[in-house]
Amino acid sequence: MTTVLAIETSCDETAAAVATGDETGPGSWAIRSSVIASQVDIHREWGGVVPELASRQHLRDLCGVAERALGDGGVDWGDLDAIAVTQGPGLVGSLLVGVAFAKSLALALGRPLVPVHHLAGHIESLFLCRPDLPLPAVVLVVSGGHTNLYHLPEAGRYELVGRTRDDAAGEAFDKVAKLLGLTYPGGPVIDRIARGGDERAIRFPVARMTHDDRVAGPATVNPPGFPRRGDGRMDFSFSGLKTAVARHLQRRRAEDPGPMSESELADICASFQRAVIDALLDRTFEAVRRFGASGLGIAGGVSANSRLRELAGERGEKKGLPVVLPTLHLSTDNAAMIAAAGLRQISAGVTARLDLNADPALPLAAAGGTPRRPASGEGAGGSCAPPGGGVVTGRVTTTRPDPGGA
Ligand code: KG4
Ligand code: ZN
Repeated sequence: MTTVLAIETSCDETAAAVATGDETGPGSWAIRSSVIASQVDIHREWGGVVPELASRQHLRDLCGVAERALGDGGVDWGDLDAIAVTQGPGLVGSLLVGVAFAKSLALALGRPLVPVHHLAGHIESLFLCRPDLPLPAVVLVVSGGHTNLYHLPEAGRYELVGRTRDDAAGEAFDKVAKLLGLTYPGGPVIDRIARGGDERAIRFPVARMTHDDRVAGPATVNPPGFPRRGDGRMDFSFSGLKTAVARHLQRRRAEDPGPMSESELADICASFQRAVIDALLDRTFEAVRRFGASGLGIAGGVSANSRLRELAGERGEKKGLPVVLPTLHLSTDNAAMIAAAGLRQISAGVTARLDLNADPALPLAAAGGTPRRPASGEGAGGSCAPPGGGVVTGRVTTTRPDPGGA
């Protein structure tokens, strides 16, 4: 049994988790602890994540968060068999804090360093919740930075079959919330307000890719059996929807400069949210059909959306398709998912040398999903000297999620 400490600092959550598992895979994975120090209260003031503030806050919080994860998990530094860390993608300054910390620990403890791709983490969060997620599966990763559709022919293999051409779905939630004068992050706020609205009140258009659009842009992976060029890839586009909401608000203000009623705001939120969800689910279920997938997973911050969870479940039920969404703790950024992806890497024999660097644009390799980093040079690093005696600032959530069952 391997005990891994995982570190996640790619954006604005400082997170650490302790998990155990063996080479038999997700059925053996168990989360011992998962601690998240959210910086959301800091960034809210600025209407979005300020990278410089994010990396400085990671620096303040990380040692305390890691110590707390160890304490909650009932393990000592010496019990750890490996250190997993998010190598990318994300904000470079934020990633660097986590990578430098993990390298220092790996060196000080003499334990292997395991590089993890942030999106592999989101994908593997599904297997933490449902170790027997039927394969082949289609997985939608939908977050603040990504809206990617993957085909998983087998465990640990992620084939990109669709992606957003512009804004990520979470980004659209955040930008529309800003237009509406709501606080950051926009997703949870719109989710809450939309519950009181009519999602059919306004018809916001959802972009349909034209033939030419579909074949343009960087190539997604075409796995065997996948439709050829021109036959339609399952890409997304959300910037037009954001513009449609902006136009609607302009028109509305020109007609009536008065303040918006609560019910009008709720109708706009509900209609926008429904348009996003329909776009996401239409293409995702289309991918399920094309690949003859036996299972469907939806992960990433936007998978916390209550209406998306409801509608995805309903559609899956109609089709007799198992639909898996992570628990709310595992939907948004966390380190338990990095531990899961780390255990997958360890089973595949993937470790990094101590010259590992953060990579803000790290690609998720098509075959195996293994971050391929050149192994060169001598290791460097030092021991961990926690500043501030391990005190964690910010809002901390800590949990020991039950990894088994649903
Ligand atoms: O995965 P995540 O925590 O960080 C990234 O890797 O980006 O995702 C954050 C995104 C934000 O854009 C946030 O607005 C969105 O997830 N989000 C939601 C909800 N909760 C978080 N979007 C819609 N509904 C929600 N309930
Ligand atoms: Zn994420």
